[in-house]
Amino acid sequence: MGSAADGVEQLRSGLVEPAIALGWQVAVTLTPNAGRWLRANGELDRLETLTGLPVRDSPRLPAEPRPHPVATCYVVAPATANYVAKLATGIADNQALTQVSEGIGTLGVPVVLFPRINAAHARHPAWKQHIGALSAAGVHLVHGPDVWPLHEPREGPAAQPLPWRAILTSLPGGGRTGS
Ligand SMILES: Cc1cc2nc3c(=O)[nH]c(=O)nc-3n(C[C@H](O)[C@H](O)[C@H](O)COP(=O)(O)O)c2cc1C
Repeated sequence: MGSAADGVEQLRSGLVEPAIALGWQVAVTLTPNAGRWLRANGELDRLETLTGLPVRDSPRLPAEPRPHPVATCYVVAPATANYVAKLATGIADNQALTQVSEGIGTLGVPVVLFPRINAAHARHPAWKQHIGALSAAGVHLVHGPDVWPLHEPREGPAAQPLPWRAILTSLPGGGRTGS
């Protein structure tokens, strides 16, 4: 899953390619905003070619077959502050939220989430509750000063690579399938 935060442009090279190399079958779902971004820069097509599956950024019609296999694990990276707020409060008004909302409540399906936020997002009065709710529900959060130091808006380093390695090692078995 990817949402419309800086760094989603690196989803293929940062997460999907390494996960496939580790033995995972990867299916990509994006929020509608992230879908718009990656369609515009050609990454959506490249992700489809790489995974051999359609990239989803909208729900199917009831009569259409499910385009993705049943997920055994969900990774949300990057997750916007908006995505985190909606997920934590049970809002599922797009495909990327629908799947992970259900994943959180499905027994035995791990959910890993990297909030791609800044210091201002973290000071929002509801932020601690959102993170607390997701953590209490068993979501593995990739956050903290070691993996993602928070900067004030527009004051971080120009290119701040997302912590893809920390995200990958948070997958079951440290990322390796079958372990
Ligand atoms: C260029 C650009 C970069 C953005 N980066 C972030 C970000 O890093 N984190 C964040 O929470 N929101 C970021 N936003 C704001 C989100 O895109 C916005 O809140 C949007 O509604 C999120 O939609 P989604 O959560 O459905 O993908 C960015 C917006 C733009 C235009």
